[in-house]
Amino acid sequence: MTKAAATRRVAVLTGGSQGLGLALTRRLAADGWSVVVDARRSTALADATADLAGVVAIPGDVSDAGHRRRLVDAATSLGPVELVVNNASTLGTSPLPPVEELGPEVLRRIFEVNVVAPVALLGDLRLAAGATVVNVTSDAAVEAYEGWGGYGASKAALEHISRVLAVERPDLRVLVVDPGDMRTEMHQDAFPGEDISDRPEPEASVPGLLALIDGAQPSGRYTARAVAVPEPSVS
Ligand SMILES: NC(=O)c1ccc[n+]([C@@H]2O[C@H](COP(=O)([O-])OP(=O)(O)OC[C@H]3O[C@@H](n4cnc5c(N)ncnc54)[C@H](OP(=O)(O)O)[C@@H]3O)[C@@H](O)[C@H]2O)c1
Repeated sequence: MTKAAATRRVAVLTGGSQGLGLALTRRLAADGWSVVVDARRSTALADATADLAGVVAIPGDVSDAGHRRRLVDAATSLGPVELVVNNASTLGTSPLPPVEELGPEVLRRIFEVNVVAPVALLGDLRLAAGATVVNVTSDAAVEAYEGWGGYGASKAALEHISRVLAVERPDLRVLVVDPGDMRTEMHQDAFPGEDISDRPEPEASVPGLLALIDGAQPSGRYTARAVAVPEPSVS
């Protein structure tokens, strides 16, 4: 292992091939983190991360226990995991259906990816004191938007289980972060055929996330673009 690799802090981030996950992975890698990332589409993941120093890409589905084990093994071989970003998520279907048309299979899949997998990953990792967990949520967790019942309920569940984790593990920082609307594939899937070019790029949500990750804010719920971002120091 090179000296640079030995001194990098270690993070696990799910859904790192595009959108918010890739934007945050780029910045974490530039800031000296080793980041173990995943996504199901292996070619897109490999292409997106090929030029990023310190990024280990492991294709797979977060809902698959064997894949999560590979993420954990890869990360822990690099050192103690200090940051987990549960970012990978699914809407279920596009277009978004009303609650009565969701169906149990789609609802189960939404909860499997958005709630069960993040919680299972944390269980597999058994983070040491001082680590930070970022569970990416949405305003759909607290607002009742037509069509967003399944996804919103899953994010509400993720938020609540995060609050319980924060009580059980006061030695961790458990940050529930709403990144705000972003111009991504997921957002386009939520509004099929609509022009979403007025939504900010995911990079707009990254400074707030980094400020939280690097900061001392306590466990709680945050809105990424409302977080105060420190001025860059002038040397
Ligand atoms: N976009 C918005 O406006 C918005 C608003 C509020 C909250 N959020 C939240 O922000 C986070 C990022 O969303 P985004 O808009 O950046 O999404 P995105 O651009 O669609 O990217 C999602 C990423 O997650 C991966 N992924 C999805 N399902 C996965 C699975 N089962 N296993 C492993 N990887 C998986 C995707 O790759 P593969 O498809 O190849 O697996 C991709 O890398 C999500 O938690 C989302 O709920 C988004």
